[in-house]
Amino acid sequence: MSVHTARRSKVTHLELRKMKEQGERITMLTAYDYSFARLCDQAGTDVLLVGDSLGMVIQGQKNTLPVTMDHMIYHCQAVARGVEAATGRAMIVGDLPFMSYQSDLDEAMRNAGRLLKEGQAEAVKLEGGAEYAELVSRLVRVGIPVMGHIGLTPQSLHALGGFKVQGREDAAAQRIKADALALAEAGCFSLVLEGIPQELGAEITESLAIPTIGIGAGPECDGQVLVIYDLLGMNEEFRPRFVKRYENFAVRVRTAIDSYIGEVRSGAFPGPEHSFSRTEKSKDKPRALAVGGVVAESEGSQLEAVGVGCIPLRPVAQKPQ
Ligand code: KIV
Repeated sequence: MSVHTARRSKVTHLELRKMKEQGERITMLTAYDYSFARLCDQAGTDVLLVGDSLGMVIQGQKNTLPVTMDHMIYHCQAVARGVEAATGRAMIVGDLPFMSYQSDLDEAMRNAGRLLKEGQAEAVKLEGGAEYAELVSRLVRVGIPVMGHIGLTPQSLHALGGFKVQGREDAAAQRIKADALALAEAGCFSLVLEGIPQELGAEITESLAIPTIGIGAGPECDGQVLVIYDLLGMNEEFRPRFVKRYENFAVRVRTAIDSYIGEVRSGAFPGPEHSFSRTEKSKDKPRALAVGGVVAESEGSQLEAVGVGCIPLRPVAQKPQ
């Protein structure tokens, strides 16, 4: 077992609370699929949020409103498999999408339950303030941990008049503080604070026993969250102030694909090292063949039967010299 897959104890809301008490910063990232979830968990991310931001970064929607429960469940399942294939440590939080919890308490309960039951999430996140206190306490009572999300709440973008920083004026800041308190009292185990002045982020963080996770809410929050594609620089046009890019994937991915296209066109790929031959003798010991991160045992013609997550593998004739 490599260091990347050695089992580690699961992060829970209790652990996050302890981290706050001990002044240890919490790291949260969004993840939407198996491969990224696996890498995020291997790297030691504490919490993986299957965010409804998937509507924008995965589906290419203008905002998060079109995301459905079925989309969320599909992506939660993939992320759960990724964490399981790595160390199993990261806590998985699934977003309740727009209109899955706003209109009816019972429907909200059922939908939150689906994220845990079908999606394998370990907690749900919902956007909004004191108006959701009753729902939060009902969810907590039946055993569903809830993360709140206040400040700039993207599902309310039309009501907010766009993706704008919230709580700059006194009255608005007071409302956000009251929402934070109401959600904490209702039983949220943590709050995402999005798009608020850093002073307000600090004040809320200090006033609550539960940890706050900031995105554009300043350095005093107990933890930080970013959309993984923003951190990696996947979209060159998207440059908001609250994002720090740790990579320039847009350029790196295009460069890699450009090399692939060039080599396929020139005939440089696949070379003999990527091809199988009828005359090649299979080794006595089965070799491990890694395909798309999945390891398959392979020996001689067994390869023919192995289709691992992508194109079925087939021995191919050696290229004529
Ligand atoms: O949907 C999402 O990714 C989020 C985070 C940005 C907090 O809600």
